Amino acid sequence: MYSKIAGTGSYLPEKILTNADIAKFVDTSDEWIKTRTGISQRHIAAEDETTTDLAEAAARSAMADAGVEPKDIDLICVGTATPDFLFPNVGTLLQERLGIHGCPAFSVEAACSGFIYALSMADKFVRLGEAKCALVVGADTLSKMVDWKDRATCVLFADGAGAVVLKAATEPGIMSTRLHADGRYKDLLLYNDGVSKGFKKVRDGTAAVQMKGSEVYKFAVNTLGQLVTETLSANNISQAEIDWLIPHQANIRIIEAIAKRIDMPMDRVIVTIAGHGNTSAASVPLALDAGIKDGRIRRGQLLLLEAFGGGFTWGSALIRY
Ligand code: ACO
Repeated sequence: MYSKIAGTGSYLPEKILTNADIAKFVDTSDEWIKTRTGISQRHIAAEDETTTDLAEAAARSAMADAGVEPKDIDLICVGTATPDFLFPNVGTLLQERLGIHGCPAFSVEAACSGFIYALSMADKFVRLGEAKCALVVGADTLSKMVDWKDRATCVLFADGAGAVVLKAATEPGIMSTRLHADGRYKDLLLYNDGVSKGFKKVRDGTAAVQMKGSEVYKFAVNTLGQLVTETLSANNISQAEIDWLIPHQANIRIIEAIAKRIDMPMDRVIVTIAGHGNTSAASVPLALDAGIKDGRIRRGQLLLLEAFGGGFTWGSALIRY
């Protein structure tokens, strides 16, 4: 038994923030942001728009694409680092919105790797015969936890959601997923407060995403390069067989460095960073959906998804679409 992608969907909030808009309130420029990151604009959730709102829109679009009804879904797995509440989890809130009752519904917290982690878990449920039709979502509203006075981080992060419906199938589908984490790097990229920390920094206004950008950059390039090589070798395939690399959209320079390392021409890489920014767990499924909907990614092609995030966490998925 395997799982296969039956449909994809995505959602971006209406509000667009351009580099020029950001340059009005921090000391930066369109030129600096574009050159260093590849980002031109990003979508930002409205004040009353939550991660579940974004997830619901993406999920409904993926379900319509797959031709499935709420009653068909028997597992909901959401990758997110920005839940509406600490409980109920976003998976459960999404389940209620969709009018689904009783199936397992949960969230996975792995920062920007959240979608790959969620996909890997849902795939295992399907392979074990414990689910036949799983809804997998990556959704984040990182704009709500960024310090908008910190030019080193606020230009990078953005909001969005992407979703896939996985159905049980006799042929793959998802051929392999590979997950990794290393907590020794916890201080290089983090949000510095939480429940058991007493929300002290949230209360005194100093809670924010903190990042040592150049160290994250170096680690991401090395690690993702190794991850791609490891995924190809574990599946006994060569880079030439991959039709599309669908990477986490954190920085165009990271994406280009990985493509170069594995000798993959950029015209076989799906890049959405210019319009989306870094949407965290949403970035990979947003890019996947964009490539499918604009006709570049076609049925039968071989896709390599990869992501990297705070923790550090990282992972890949090799998929016959
Ligand atoms: N506008 C103008 N200048 C800036 C800005 C800005 N927005 N941000 C930083 N600078 C300045 C710095 O202050 C520094 O100035 P100085 O030389 O006078 O000290 C200079 O630009 C260079 O700063 P660096 O940090 O060395 O710039 P770098 O080329 O490394 O680019 C960046 C920074 C874009 C953040 C890069 O390091 C990067 O992309 N790192 C990886 C980040 C990443 O991928 N994060 C997400 C991981 S996924 C997740 O889990 C969320």
